[in-house]
Amino acid sequence: MRNIAVIGVGYVGLVTGACFADLGNRVTCMDISEEKIEKLKQGIMPFYEPGLEELVERNVRAGRLFFTTSYAEAIRDAEFVFIAVGTPEGVDGEADLRYVRAAAEAIADVMDHPLIIVNKSTVPVGTGDWVADIIRARRGDSVPFSVVSCPEFLREGSAISDFMNPARVVLGSLDRDAAEKVAQLHLPLRAPIVITDLRTAEMIKYASNAFLATRISFINEIAAICEVVGADVKEVANGMGYDPRIGRMFLDAGVGYGGSCFPKDVKALAHMALSNGYQPQMLQAVMSINAYQRRLVVKKLRDALGSLDGAVVGLLGLAFKPNTDDMRDAPSIDIARYIIAEGGRVRAYDPVAMEVARRILPDVEMAPDPYSLADGCDAIVIVTDWNEFKNLDLERIRDRMRRPVLVDGRNIYDPAFVRSLGFIYRGIGRGFNGEGVQK
Ligand code: UDX
Repeated sequence: MRNIAVIGVGYVGLVTGACFADLGNRVTCMDISEEKIEKLKQGIMPFYEPGLEELVERNVRAGRLFFTTSYAEAIRDAEFVFIAVGTPEGVDGEADLRYVRAAAEAIADVMDHPLIIVNKSTVPVGTGDWVADIIRARRGDSVPFSVVSCPEFLREGSAISDFMNPARVVLGSLDRDAAEKVAQLHLPLRAPIVITDLRTAEMIKYASNAFLATRISFINEIAAICEVVGADVKEVANGMGYDPRIGRMFLDAGVGYGGSCFPKDVKALAHMALSNGYQPQMLQAVMSINAYQRRLVVKKLRDALGSLDGAVVGLLGLAFKPNTDDMRDAPSIDIARYIIAEGGRVRAYDPVAMEVARRILPDVEMAPDPYSLADGCDAIVIVTDWNEFKNLDLERIRDRMRRPVLVDGRNIYDPAFVRSLGFIYRGIGRGFNGEGVQK
């Protein structure tokens, strides 16, 4: 059993804290938000993540997981302090480090015994050194400490299993001993552990996310080419995916990536390159293809309906991906706004994200289920690939629509089948579908 403090109860912090507690450690999660901590003490999660509530409850009951708003209390007995605060996007696309700075300063002010400070937040290369400088500037060498970078690779919606079954654990530090100690904490996970220097670890995180985002924009570009030459991108991705050098994952064409990581991290990496004098050509293409995918959906609607002026469009799905209520940089936001800007009316249904979405999209009318959503719609767009959308009674949907236009922004349906029901179907990159070329 180790004593661990976790600063920040966002996705990364709370999942990390609850999982380390579940591995038998004593964990205190700290956040400056009294509201969040108060709710957590009552068993109310600050966001939706499958399995998290039970995990938190079990570990609180077992006396291994605690919540506080006090840095001093969190750090009092801690050997490790994980920094897991937010790093939002700054004005120029750079990562905004004000919360990391605040956490480093507060840790410096209360620490009175040797600490291993582990950075989980996604931070620009060089931030680990900067955190060490902040602490040293406040405390000199009065209390020994080391900084270790341990980037997270958690996907929302499967964060707990990602934590418990990581593909790898990456640790970076100039202090090999400290990195080895953090490695010990991760041994029960039986994952390969890469130990390297601070900056390289920070770069591994950015390069990994940028690579996955690149795969998505790559397949979206292939989808556009499939449409003009008459091929089906889903089959293309399947055919490519059997090559072990390529693999099938992250080759789903659609409305593009959103969420709290890919958009922000690709931008931040491009910004880091630019501000150091390097023009990141591929990252710029990745971003512009991704932005175009959101416009593409609206173009497909316009082509099918003639004009969006006065049209009623139903969005199936609002969250940036299934199994989360996260709306950060969700494609649905841009898509809804573009439709409204062209004079259309937008209605939407999402299994869990409607409450969060209401605040962001006040002009969008929320429907209680997919069938009521269809009432009077001129078109429906699949924006999020929730499982429950894959087996809808499409004939019931069609009968309630004004015009049977279906834009499948996630390619979840078989085009020939949907067309056989009388729909005008538009997928992404599904040029060949048994009915000739879709232009
Ligand atoms: C991602 C990384 O996967 C994770 O390792 C990192 O730590 C945080 O960022 P997350 O943002 O939760 O996780 O979502 P992910 O499942 O990776 O999907 C990101 C976005 O890409 C979603 O909008 C998803 O719909 C989209 N996507 C994914 C595609 O459009 N096509 C694909 O083939 C895969």
